[in-house]
Amino acid sequence: MEIKKVGVLGCGLMGSGIAQTAASAGFETIVREVSDDLINKGFAGIEKSLAKFAEKGAITAEQQKATRDRLSGTTSFDDMADCDIIIEAIIENIEQKRSTYEQLDRICKPETIFASNTSSISITEMMTATSPQRQQRFVGLHFFNPVPLMKLVEVVRTILTDEQIYEQAIEFGKKLGKVPVRAGDRTGFIVNRLLVPYMLDAIRTLEEGVGSIVDIDTSMKLGLGYPMGPFTLGDFVGLDTTYYIAEIMFNEFREKRFAPPPLLKRMVMAGLYGRKSGRGFYDYADPKNPTPMKLV
Ligand code: 3HC
Repeated sequence: MEIKKVGVLGCGLMGSGIAQTAASAGFETIVREVSDDLINKGFAGIEKSLAKFAEKGAITAEQQKATRDRLSGTTSFDDMADCDIIIEAIIENIEQKRSTYEQLDRICKPETIFASNTSSISITEMMTATSPQRQQRFVGLHFFNPVPLMKLVEVVRTILTDEQIYEQAIEFGKKLGKVPVRAGDRTGFIVNRLLVPYMLDAIRTLEEGVGSIVDIDTSMKLGLGYPMGPFTLGDFVGLDTTYYIAEIMFNEFREKRFAPPPLLKRMVMAGLYGRKSGRGFYDYADPKNPTPMKLV
């Protein structure tokens, strides 16, 4: 079966980025959200991103229009029935994900491949919400924020994923213009397995007074050539998300390097989630000139 029609569940930051990427790569793409408001919000982000690419000359006005024309939104699962692949990017809640997959398993054609963009939940645990036939057609497709710019996709297999389906998912990743890497279904896959302990260690380094927020960020940017220091990245990804992923990884591996430091927990409790809430390790009152917060 050739993949022609792509379904995306969720039109938040990741879902809208995935939908934009699929439509830009030439796939007919339908996005499902719980309300028209959320669809409109996600599509406005896509418009903005396409406009940036057009401004830079990375895409033509025709390509911009063609991408838009290949995209549609819906609030109904029934409209996903004939999709060849469904990529789920809803809230990181196992119960909600399982219930979504359970419903879609009944609605979608038997050939539809199910994929999840989860960053930390076990693909196997989600897969078991579907029928035995579907379980062989279940993979992880983990993208990175901002999806239209980041070249990597982790393609995750479970012990039940069919070999051909897995290879097809790898090829699909390439057709999206991404570089696919193969990863097993272990919490955090490859990137978060290495990234999360690094980010948590940066917070411990700050708590211990080894360096300031700005100096730690500057060190990792200029000393190692990272595009963002760990605190800028944490604020960009979302500190609530980082905390949530760390908790799941700590529960899975029971290793202290995955344990969220108290400062991170306090910041999340206080609503300091990073860019999206206006404050995290930095204060974004002036978004072009973030100032470090006094936290320790
Ligand atoms: N769509 C289109 N263009 C975009 C864009 C978008 N969504 N976002 C940024 N751009 C463009 C900007 O317009 C700019 O264009 P220009 O060079 O012509 O001016 C260009 O990209 C660079 O943007 P900025 O000048 O704003 O900033 P940077 O040079 O710092 O680049 C970045 C931005 C690509 C985000 C870069 O900082 C970066 O690579 N940061 C690291 C991101 C990262 O690590 N992501 C992974 C997070 S972990 C994750 O997602 C996994 C999850 O499970 C936690």
